[in-house]
Amino acid sequence: MISTNIEEAARLLMEGQVVAIPTETVYGLAGNAFSEPALRKIFSVKQRPHFNPLIVHIASADMLPAIASDIPEKAKILADAFWPGPLTLVLPKNPIVPNLVTGGKPTVAVRVPNHPMSLALLRSIPFPLAAPSANLFGSLSPTRATHVEAGLGNLVTMVLDGGPCEKGIESTIVGFVYGEPVVYRLGSISLEELSMVVGEVTLLTRDQHAPPAPGMLDKHYAPKTKLILCDLISEEIKNHDPLKTVALVLQKRDDLPEGMEQVALSDKADLDEAASRLYDCLHELDKQGWGLILAERMPDIGLGRSINDRLERAAKQDE
Ligand code: TXA
Ligand code: MG
Repeated sequence: MISTNIEEAARLLMEGQVVAIPTETVYGLAGNAFSEPALRKIFSVKQRPHFNPLIVHIASADMLPAIASDIPEKAKILADAFWPGPLTLVLPKNPIVPNLVTGGKPTVAVRVPNHPMSLALLRSIPFPLAAPSANLFGSLSPTRATHVEAGLGNLVTMVLDGGPCEKGIESTIVGFVYGEPVVYRLGSISLEELSMVVGEVTLLTRDQHAPPAPGMLDKHYAPKTKLILCDLISEEIKNHDPLKTVALVLQKRDDLPEGMEQVALSDKADLDEAASRLYDCLHELDKQGWGLILAERMPDIGLGRSINDRLERAAKQDE
């Protein structure tokens, strides 16, 4: 059931149910982060392996010391700069955080989401919310309440409708090695924005993810339609049928074959706007039943990097 009733969402969560909630990034599948039965429900609804840890959502940075300890100075600076917002910090966990949340790891991922409804909800309950994206494991993240309902159907009692997600792509995840920031997952905050606040940050490559973040599997964020990521669609299309293929481009192109359909992510070639529309466009294209999505690689700057990361993972689906 899609609803805007925050009190009802709070009541269900207090009962140990899971509720889909809006955030500025994507919709989350939320449950009491301190309740093992609620956590088990999240994993079973999502069909997610238990080794893949969850993000804990808190109402404000004031709650951070209850969840994590030994917080590096640069983590405090980042939290000050970006919370509430799409930044997830990976920090040493306190014993109160169940192992089910962290996949047995000694660290916990935490963020303060920037959505008025979820902040109101978090302030009205006496526990933080563990919430992965509200999609089945391995499929596209939802950026609208209707995406959650289409993907999870009756598996969730309630989807709290906060409208379309403003950022449209997941939070940027940052951990720390000897106090220095390391980016585990690119997301709604760019490397440039992080660097402006804390100086140099290191981006882990996909292979380096394996030990610290086992959940960052390649096959992820995937539409049902086959997707190929390429540098030049006008070349790649020569290998495919242009009438069964749709192009996903940053800005409208005029070098595509006659009659080929295209979807532009931003008329102004604005990478922030493109990131915010990416999943929404992929959900739409999935509904339209194309044989193939040919996606154009974005410039490797700002949120272009985050978009490329998601498109690379989406393109892995058939490998
Ligand atoms: O924007 C977001 O981050 C959304 C909204 C709902 O907040 N959440 C989200 O959650 O994307 P999820 O579960 O789909 O992705 C969380 C990622 C996983 O890849 C997981 O491996 C990583 O966070 N993660 C969680 N705890 C971690 C930890 N202790 N160390 C390293 N990575 C961790
Ligand atoms: Mg996810």
